[in-house]
Amino acid sequence: MPLNLEYKKPVLKGTIQVPGDKSISHRSIMFGAMASGKTTVEGFLLGADCLSTISCFRKLGVTIDLDGDRVTITSEGAAGWKEPAAILDTGNSGTTTRLMLGLLAATNFHSVVAGDDSIAKRPMKRIVEPLRQMGADIRGRQNGHFTPLAIQGTKLSAINYTLPVASAQVKSAILLAALYADGITLIEEPVATRDHTEIMLGHFGAVIKRSGNTIRVGGGQKLTANHVKVPGDISSAAFMIGAALITQGSEIRLTNVGTNPTRTGILDVIGQMGADFEMEETAVEGERSADLVIRSSRLKGIEIGGALIPRLIDEIPVIALIATQCHGTTVIKDAEELRVKETDRISAVVDELAKMGADITATSDGMIINGPTPLTGAEMKTYGDHRLGMMAAVASLTADGPVTIDDPDCIAVSYPGFMEHLKRLID
Ligand code: S3P
Repeated sequence: MPLNLEYKKPVLKGTIQVPGDKSISHRSIMFGAMASGKTTVEGFLLGADCLSTISCFRKLGVTIDLDGDRVTITSEGAAGWKEPAAILDTGNSGTTTRLMLGLLAATNFHSVVAGDDSIAKRPMKRIVEPLRQMGADIRGRQNGHFTPLAIQGTKLSAINYTLPVASAQVKSAILLAALYADGITLIEEPVATRDHTEIMLGHFGAVIKRSGNTIRVGGGQKLTANHVKVPGDISSAAFMIGAALITQGSEIRLTNVGTNPTRTGILDVIGQMGADFEMEETAVEGERSADLVIRSSRLKGIEIGGALIPRLIDEIPVIALIATQCHGTTVIKDAEELRVKETDRISAVVDELAKMGADITATSDGMIINGPTPLTGAEMKTYGDHRLGMMAAVASLTADGPVTIDDPDCIAVSYPGFMEHLKRLID
């Protein structure tokens, strides 16, 4: 059912705990299933993507119990997984699809991985190629480059691999396969990407060494069950940050937000734009976290590119929206990866914000936005992409007419309860 939104210059006040980090939640299930013993997770994200991960591991015979945002995973380790009798349905989740390929390649059984229409369009070659170099047997459409993919588990060998794209999913899939491969795998990442896999594997007892841009991991390591605390997702917080920045007179507090430095590019960006905000650290070891206080601000346009991009890749839809309210020009470049996200996020963001009157132009690897421009009401499309849905909802706060969102349900992929949280800040 479409959602109709119309606000009259709302002022946002109050405190929100955004749901758990999506990347960390996925990994807590996967690594809990790889470890022997009982892993407990608190603050787990009950979003559709992470529920897909749970359902896949249940099909491998792993016991996973949910109690609100607490999860218990009971496993004998990967050696105890059994051949799934049905397709492993990864839904809309790229992280589930890609990281699982690394794990399934190293089993001794057959499995099939497939997701929704969006997953069927997303490139898997970037995962399948290095895994094949390790000896993996993976087949599928277009020489195994698109789902559905059939995997016959087999013995793998270590590789030395330089990532051709800055992708934590590719890095993680290879790292996970490497834990079960013979020998020592070296992965070089030209630009640093989110390091949740390395941090959490260390927490579960694996030895992963980094020197400069090279990550070294030995095969045959055993993981031991542990407890995982999931901080709030900065990628979800980003939409609330955007909401507070662009609505005059607003001041909000976001508690316990994950502030792993590989994810905080959004904070660097709003700082450079001149935003009035504070960060009070709540945890400094392992996965860092902080409370964030954000006030509406007069902002200026900036240039965003280079090594900053992987640190804010999922935040570009909301950054583009914020940029429509900045004084001057914002240029986003080196972000061609956006073209292969849940949808082509360069085209989708540009088309949707332009409908509301934004001065925004697509480039091959990003976009150029001139501001500030008042936004008008419009009929917004999500393309089934959760972040496009949230961008439209936040944009409606400053629009001078009604905004309709065609498919608001997709927001639950990463932020169930998003509209309720937004409403709570407005009331
Ligand atoms: C993720 C990595 C990123 C990010 C995605 C989650 C992860 O994807 O966009 O939302 O959990 O590793 P890429 O590895 O494709 O950049």
